[in-house]
Amino acid sequence: MTLKNKVILVTGGAKRVGAAICCKLHAQGANLMVHYRSSQNDAQMLRQTLEQMRPDSVELVQADLLEMERIPGLIEETVRRFGKLDALVNNASSFFPTPIGQLTEQAWVDLIGSNLKAPLFLSQAAVPYLEKQHGCIVNIVDIHVEHPLKNYVIYNAAKGGLAALTRSLALELAPFIRVNGVAPGPIMWPEHEEWIDQSLRKEIIDRTLLKRMGEPEDIAKAVYFLIADAPFITGQIIVVDGGRSINL
Ligand SMILES: NC(=O)c1ccc[n+]([C@@H]2O[C@H](COP(=O)([O-])OP(=O)(O)OC[C@H]3O[C@@H](n4cnc5c(N)ncnc54)[C@H](OP(=O)(O)O)[C@@H]3O)[C@@H](O)[C@H]2O)c1
Repeated sequence: MTLKNKVILVTGGAKRVGAAICCKLHAQGANLMVHYRSSQNDAQMLRQTLEQMRPDSVELVQADLLEMERIPGLIEETVRRFGKLDALVNNASSFFPTPIGQLTEQAWVDLIGSNLKAPLFLSQAAVPYLEKQHGCIVNIVDIHVEHPLKNYVIYNAAKGGLAALTRSLALELAPFIRVNGVAPGPIMWPEHEEWIDQSLRKEIIDRTLLKRMGEPEDIAKAVYFLIADAPFITGQIIVVDGGRSINL
């Protein structure tokens, strides 16, 4: 229980990778503020499951992270409910193609907003509380920062910005707050991307050195490590991709 009594806010935590991060951190003793946008049922089920193990250890907060005025409130609600903030995990992300010729400002606002702008302004709002706790920030980035995904110009740029933000905030917030990232490779297929057919899935898996998809728990373990067991690590991004990024 290395995270006993620690308070952690996880964005987009209701399901998929975010939920795995929540389960791992909770199992190690953390109290969680789980943020969700539209996945209310998943969020409530997750809370119920986790609170069966430890009552009063999970709170839910709903917000569309594109609504800037909601951002400071997420941090404040966490501190009001649990009394402090030890770590912020910026996991929420939108993901959809933006082929050249079909770019829209709306797509820019959505992808940059959820993947880059919200993590920055959440971090800023969290700074006074994280500083008190000598806490940390973990940003969930992507291997496609280094190797762009075709047709995803804005998403690639947003995650590239998040990688730069990770290093930049590490510089700004040292020595009291560590800022790191985790860059997943293929972990879970996107929910609404039918273009990833069976042959493309096979090709992506074949290009991992370990010849398989990762699991959400692999990302959760890296996040846990950076929060709980990495006191001398800041400004770094750990790639968790089964070796795919050295074999693209
Ligand atoms: N899955 C992978 O293999 C993979 C690969 C590379 C990188 N990643 C990164 O790892 C993280 C988790 O991946 P994932 O596949 O589990 O993510 P995901 O399911 O695509 O998205 C996570 C959550 O982000 C929330 N979200 C999206 N836009 C939002 C907004 N405007 N405001 C608030 N919340 C918003 C959604 O919450 P609601 O459902 O509540 O609306 C969603 O459940 C992401 O940062 C992703 O970019 C994942």
